[in-house]
Amino acid sequence: MRNKVSIIGAGQTGATTAHWLAEREIADIVLLDVLEGMPKGKGLDLQQALPIIGKDVVVTGTSNYADTAGSDIVVITAGLPRKPGMSREDLLKANAEIITKAAEETSKVSPNAIYIILTNPLDTMAYLTMQLTGLPRERVIGQAGILDSARMRAFVGMELGVSVENIQCYVLGGHGDEMVPLTKASNVAGIPLDKVLPADRLAAIVDRTRKGGGEIVSLLKTGSAFYAPSLAVVQMVDAILKDKQLIVPASAYMQGEYGLNGIFFGVPAQLGRKGLEKVWEYELSEEESAALKKSAAAVAESIDNLKTLIPNI
Ligand code: 2OP
Repeated sequence: MRNKVSIIGAGQTGATTAHWLAEREIADIVLLDVLEGMPKGKGLDLQQALPIIGKDVVVTGTSNYADTAGSDIVVITAGLPRKPGMSREDLLKANAEIITKAAEETSKVSPNAIYIILTNPLDTMAYLTMQLTGLPRERVIGQAGILDSARMRAFVGMELGVSVENIQCYVLGGHGDEMVPLTKASNVAGIPLDKVLPADRLAAIVDRTRKGGGEIVSLLKTGSAFYAPSLAVVQMVDAILKDKQLIVPASAYMQGEYGLNGIFFGVPAQLGRKGLEKVWEYELSEEESAALKKSAAAVAESIDNLKTLIPNI
């Protein structure tokens, strides 16, 4: 039987996720949006593109949650993007309402699905989804770390003129400006970044990575990044459907790892057919541990804000 992936939200991110995913030919795709017509139009356009590259998957654009029934994976991208000057936290109230509807409707018809959450504020929206669906942590994962790490890899590649294939970067923590790019574990051909880059250049890359989403928002003016976030989702979908046991930075519900409990947080997450199969732990320097604590405090505060909005979760 073919895999089925439903993408909730057919804006730039949702539609681009469908695009990258269709090219992989690993699942039939449902692209859902509350707007009438638009998801159908995008779905049909994408379906008509696939003969050109010889890919046989069914793409269904819809406004009806019944069409998402029996999904293996539900990707939630629906929500408002930031405008210039806004933080991801500023989206909390509006996006909590949107996520609530998406999580409730999809879980009714896809009881076995694994959820990948992309809507901001990411770690809090993943928490909300887990609470609303009552799913175990294995089946609700937030996407952020692959994106943040890819940004850092791109910046290192631009700085050194080295293939991105030689560059591994790891960004942990919440998906906000307090995220923690690791500078010792990140490396170029196995050589730690802090050995190949002067301290000031490395600090500039860390800072640009942290603010990477905001940089794009301020350039686009009417939305947020979508190519890199959506491709990051597709890497997670691919790892899950192919049971790759791939370790990627992703947002997982903490049960004691890194001394944290009760929040979603960006950590090395091993992904396979059960979803989150294992959380890996780095040995961190004192400085990195302190930065991680600061980031965790920001996520915990966001979850507290959510609980004041929706007291029964
Ligand atoms: C970003 O960092 C949208 O949060 C996403 O670009």
